[in-house]
Amino acid sequence: MPSRFRPCSQRTALYFGLSLVLFAQPILATNVFTCYANDFVDPSHTVGQYAANLAGAQDTIVAWANEMNSYGPWSVTYKPVLPPSGLKHDYMSWAPYQWPDCSKAGNTTVLTPEQMWKTCAYVFRDGQVNPDRTTINDFQSFFNLSDAVLYNSLAFTFQSQSSSVYSQNAVKFIRAWFLDSATAMNPNLNYAQMNRGPNGQHGEYTGILDLRGFAKIASGILILRQHGSSDWTADIDSQMGAWCQQYINWLQTAPTALQAAAAKNNHGTFYVNQLAALKLIVNDTAGATTLGRGYFGGIYKGQISSNGDQPMEASRTRPYHYRNFNIAGMITNARLLKYADPTSNDWNTTSNGATIQTAIDFLMTTNPSATQESNVTAEIYPNVAAVAATYGDSTGKYVAFLNTSGFPYASDASFLWDQPLAGGSDQPLVGGGNRSSNPISEASAAPASSSQASGTSGSMRPSMMIWATFGLLGIFGWRLC
Ligand SMILES: *[C@@H]1O[C@H](CO)[C@@H](O)[C@H](O)[C@H]1NC(C)=O
Ligand SMILES: *[C@@H]1O[C@H](CO)[C@@H](O)[C@H](O)[C@H]1NC(C)=O
Ligand SMILES: *[C@@H]1O[C@H](CO)[C@@H](O)[C@H](O)[C@H]1NC(C)=O
Ligand SMILES: *[C@@H]1O[C@H](CO)[C@@H](O)[C@H](O)[C@H]1NC(C)=O
Ligand SMILES: *[C@@H]1O[C@H](CO)[C@@H](O)[C@H](O)[C@H]1NC(C)=O
Ligand SMILES: *[C@@H]1O[C@H](CO)[C@@H](O)[C@H](O)[C@H]1NC(C)=O
Ligand SMILES: *[C@@H]1O[C@H](CO)[C@@H](O)[C@H](O)[C@H]1NC(C)=O
Repeated sequence: MPSRFRPCSQRTALYFGLSLVLFAQPILATNVFTCYANDFVDPSHTVGQYAANLAGAQDTIVAWANEMNSYGPWSVTYKPVLPPSGLKHDYMSWAPYQWPDCSKAGNTTVLTPEQMWKTCAYVFRDGQVNPDRTTINDFQSFFNLSDAVLYNSLAFTFQSQSSSVYSQNAVKFIRAWFLDSATAMNPNLNYAQMNRGPNGQHGEYTGILDLRGFAKIASGILILRQHGSSDWTADIDSQMGAWCQQYINWLQTAPTALQAAAAKNNHGTFYVNQLAALKLIVNDTAGATTLGRGYFGGIYKGQISSNGDQPMEASRTRPYHYRNFNIAGMITNARLLKYADPTSNDWNTTSNGATIQTAIDFLMTTNPSATQESNVTAEIYPNVAAVAATYGDSTGKYVAFLNTSGFPYASDASFLWDQPLAGGSDQPLVGGGNRSSNPISEASAAPASSSQASGTSGSMRPSMMIWATFGLLGIFGWRLC
C-alpha cells in the first residue's frame, strides 16, 4: 500500500517526520482525504483540463480518487453477517448509539456475539457510537462508493478523453454495488440502522440517511453523461435508471422512509438530498424541483432560528457536529434544487429571518470544546467555503477563518466547485492553465505514491506547512461519514 494511504497513526507519524526533514519543501501537494457529510456538484461546474488556479484542488481530487480506488469495489454481499431476511443482498447497518444490556439475558462472556445481538436488550446512548457497529460495514462501503464515484468522475473530466481509468473505475464501482447480479444491492433499506435485541431486527427511520451519498453518486453520473464518457453506456444508464426507480418507489412508500421524510431535523433534510438526487438520475427534474421546493417551503422554515442556531441539532449531545451536518444537507438541497430549477434562489430563502449563511456565521462563533467535541472542526471548512462562494466574501472573513484555522482550502477538493473564492476563479481556464506536470499521467492506473506529492504546479502554501507540521492529518474526516 502506498505510504500516503497508510492508517492514520502511521500517516501522521510520516508527515510529522517529513515536516522535520523537508521544512519549506512542498511536502504536501494534496489534502488528506475528507469524506464530506454530503454535497452535490453541478456537472457543468467542472473544468476540461488543468487550470493553474484550481490545480491544487484537482491534484487532491485525483489523489482522493486514487485512494478510494485502493478500497473498491464495494458490495453489500461482502458483509460477514446475514440480515434477518437471510439475503446478503439486503443492505444492513446497526444503529450507532445502541448498546447491549445483557443483565437479563446471561452475559457477553457466555453469549456468542450472535446470541447477544438477538437476546440482549439494547439501550440508547445519544452520541456514543458502539464500536462493534463496523462489524457490518455496508454504511462505510457506501460512503466510500459515493466518494469514489464523485472523484473518479471529476478526475475523468480533467483529461480530454472519452474514457480513462477514472471513468472505468466509476462505472465498475456502480455496476458492482447496484447492477451485477452476484453483488447487487436489493433496492430497499429494510435493515438500515437496525436496532438489535428481542424487539429489534428491523431497520429504523434514522438509517435512511445512510444513503444520503446518492447526491455524490448523482453528481458523478451527471458528469459522466455530460462529458460523454464512453464507459457510461446507454445500457448501463438504463439499468441504473431502473434500479433507482425501484428504490425511489421504496423510499416513497416504506414506513421507515416516510418517517424520515416527516422528520423535522437533519433526517428530513437528508431524505430530500437522497430522493432529489435519485430523481435527477432518472431524469425526473420536475420531481426533484417539487421536493426541493417542499423542503425550503417546509421543514427548513423551522430549522434555523433568527440568531442562526439550529435548535433541533443544538439539543443533541454533539451539537457542533450536528449543526454542521445539517448545514451540509441544507447546502446540498440548495444545490440540487438550483440544478433542477435554475430559476430557484433558495440560498436567500429565510427561516425565521435567517439563511444558510446566518447558520454558518453562528457556527463560526461556536467552540466545539465547550461541548467536549474533539476532532470536529474539519467539518465546518467545506460548509464555510460553500457559503463564501455562494454569498460572496467581500470582507474576506470566510477566507480569513479558513486561513486562521490552518486549513489549506485552495487545495481541498471542494475548491473546484466552490467558486469564486479568493485564490480561485469562477472562469475555468480551459486550455490556459497548463501545468508543469499532469499527475494523472504520472499516476496512471496505480494510486499515486507519496513521492508524487511534489507534482504540484504551485509553490508551497504557508497554510499547508502549518497543517503538515501540526500533524493533524489522520483525524480528518473520521467524523464526517
Ligand atoms: C456482564 O456481567 C458483568 C458482571 O455482572 C457486568 O458488569 C456487565 O455489565 C455485564 N455485561 C453486559 C453487556 O451486560
Ligand atoms: C473507506 O475509506 C477509508 C478511508 O477514508 C478507509 O479507512 C476504510 O477502510 C474504507 N472502508 C471501506 C469499507 O472501503
Ligand atoms: C436521462 O437523460 C439523458 C439525456 O437525455 C439520457 O442520455 C439518459 O439515457 C436518460 N436516463 C434515464 C435513466 O432516463
Ligand atoms: C440573494 O438575493 C439578492 C437580491 O435579490 C441577490 O442579489 C443575491 O444574488 C441573492 N443571493 C444568493 C446567494 O442567491
Ligand atoms: C490566506 O492565506 C493565503 C496564503 O497564506 C494568503 O495569500 C491570503 O492573503 C490569505 N487570505 C486572508 C483573507 O487572510
Ligand atoms: C498548453 O499546452 C498546449 C499543448 O501542449 C499548447 O498548445 C498550449 O499553447 C499551452 N498553453 C499555454 C497557455 O501554455
Ligand atoms: C482525535 O484524533 C486523534 C488523532 O488521530 C486521536 O488520537 C483521538 O482519539 C481522536 N479523538 C477522538 C475523540 O476520537
